[in-house]
Amino acid sequence: MCGIIAYAGHRPAVPVLIQGLKSLEYRGYDSSGLAFVHMNKLHLFRASGKLEALESKLDSGHILHATSGIGHTRWATHGLPNETNAHPHLDVTANLALVHNGIIENFQEIKDSLSNQGVCFCSETDTEVLVCLISHGLQKKKDIKKAISWTLDQIEGSYAFALISRDHPGTIWAARQASPLLFGVGTGENFIASDIPAFLPFTKEVVFLEDNELIEMNAGQWSVFNSSTLEPVNKEVKTVSWDVQAAKKGGYKHFMLKEIFEQPKVIKDCLSGRINREEQKIILPELQNIAVPKRLHIVACGTSYHAGLWGKYVMESMAGIPVDVEIASEFRYKTLVPDKSKMFLFISQSGETADTLAALRLVKEKGFPVLGLCNVVGSSLARESHTVIYTQAGPEISVASTKAMCSQLVLILLLTLYWTGKNNPEEKNSISEAIKSFSSLPDVLEKELPEMQRRIMGISRDYSWAKSFFFLGRGIYYPMALEGALKLKEISYIHAEGYAAGELKHGPIALIDEEFPTFAIAPSDHLLGKIKSNLKEIQARKGKIIALTQAGSELNVDDELQIPQTWGPLNSFFILPALQLFAYETSVYLGKDVDQPRNLAKSVTVE
Ligand code: M6R
Repeated sequence: MCGIIAYAGHRPAVPVLIQGLKSLEYRGYDSSGLAFVHMNKLHLFRASGKLEALESKLDSGHILHATSGIGHTRWATHGLPNETNAHPHLDVTANLALVHNGIIENFQEIKDSLSNQGVCFCSETDTEVLVCLISHGLQKKKDIKKAISWTLDQIEGSYAFALISRDHPGTIWAARQASPLLFGVGTGENFIASDIPAFLPFTKEVVFLEDNELIEMNAGQWSVFNSSTLEPVNKEVKTVSWDVQAAKKGGYKHFMLKEIFEQPKVIKDCLSGRINREEQKIILPELQNIAVPKRLHIVACGTSYHAGLWGKYVMESMAGIPVDVEIASEFRYKTLVPDKSKMFLFISQSGETADTLAALRLVKEKGFPVLGLCNVVGSSLARESHTVIYTQAGPEISVASTKAMCSQLVLILLLTLYWTGKNNPEEKNSISEAIKSFSSLPDVLEKELPEMQRRIMGISRDYSWAKSFFFLGRGIYYPMALEGALKLKEISYIHAEGYAAGELKHGPIALIDEEFPTFAIAPSDHLLGKIKSNLKEIQARKGKIIALTQAGSELNVDDELQIPQTWGPLNSFFILPALQLFAYETSVYLGKDVDQPRNLAKSVTVE
């Protein structure tokens, strides 16, 4: 939630900050701002709305002179998304400017106390309280690092922030607690950001900051300290393999479309080095010292939760491992039943989702083994899991998650096959078949996608009048139905609900009429007969139906899209992009903001 970029170097800082903010806009985009010091004065620019609004406020005169500064793109938590609440926030007494992600939970108490001491606030934000508290600390401690440390001792909640001072031009301080923050090491220039793409065009050398760490940097130097004791902390510089092109649109109209079309490559990348074709084996070295779990507990949010639910079906049917799947925001407040046979699997694209991380910490505290499935290298989830498996999908920029889910499904299936090999050696043939089909999947999918998009574009236009949609599936396709509904509502703002098709007659069917269409997932598997009956019930109530079918599962419905047939669970890799493309094309046709849908942000780092 929200994006931070800070720069100190030899280039004009404002263009670097704007470029960084553009790549972070997916994290929040209801207002933005930047601040820098020039001619012994703090300069502040802020605007509500998209980044263009900020750009249009920047007069080209003196903005090119500053070579350091801080920038922010906001997803509102405290106060309306207007200019007054946009970051950076200033403390005019001490001439400080600060950008902040996260939530200061005790901000009201601190605000009241500072107000009683004569401090006036301009905004409704917790961020302004933070910068004013640092200023207050500075009056006592006469040193910025000490003032920050004093402040952090008093605040509760999550934060990542970057701070500049008029009296120390060129120096930037930053700290984090339960909100991501990275340091980018350049040559004669340094960066702080909430996500790697913000400085990727300039450096791939990264320091992952931990909770309770404070960094002080300028163009040529940087040091990390424990934020309570101010003792120096040694940090390792790591090189990330992401490339700049991967974080750009690459000729596609939207990141979402690019990411949907990247899925064949994502499958290839996920499989790379993980399949031994000669020995017909799955290679997951991360798991070599881990026993096959007796029971698996999957915890995640949103799309990652749907991937987990899909995993339950494959894991139970193939590996014979009982699986529970839970939404992290619910799980974290439940009583954890002691059962030492359980292993926990946390799934997250970003690795920074607050609820998922809170659940992970809870489980670790209770002594359960924790496996993380995550896309972002070095993210909190990756660092805090006992064992992490990376999905290797590359940066996912669009708020609507697409290729990340594809990569999660691949890894869940590999995990299933790996444990199947250990649990049920008699399943050798299905493992061989899976490996064979997996290998040909990327090419088949790549050929299929353009025609799939063309067909879906037409169908989606014909249904763009709909105010509501049902998405139905059975078995392994029930989680897919949930995902199809989530994608549609998230980016087209059409109300959609995913249901296990058999549940329809237990209530939801009351809604069906000619104006309430259904999107059915009806491949030719053992449940086809069942779903056919469900669809007949809908037609009897004049409901219109779009169906994803396969050769042999043709249905007499309003619109049908046939997908290729492959081995068992791999059919999902054709169904998933069809659902994603349906949401995408509907959103484009309705003129919605595909990559940055209203009220959302890419990683949900607040509860
Ligand atoms: O980064 P995570 O996988 O932990 O994110 C979980 C959800 O916030 C995420 O999947 C969200 O539901 C997406 N916007 C769905 O497209």
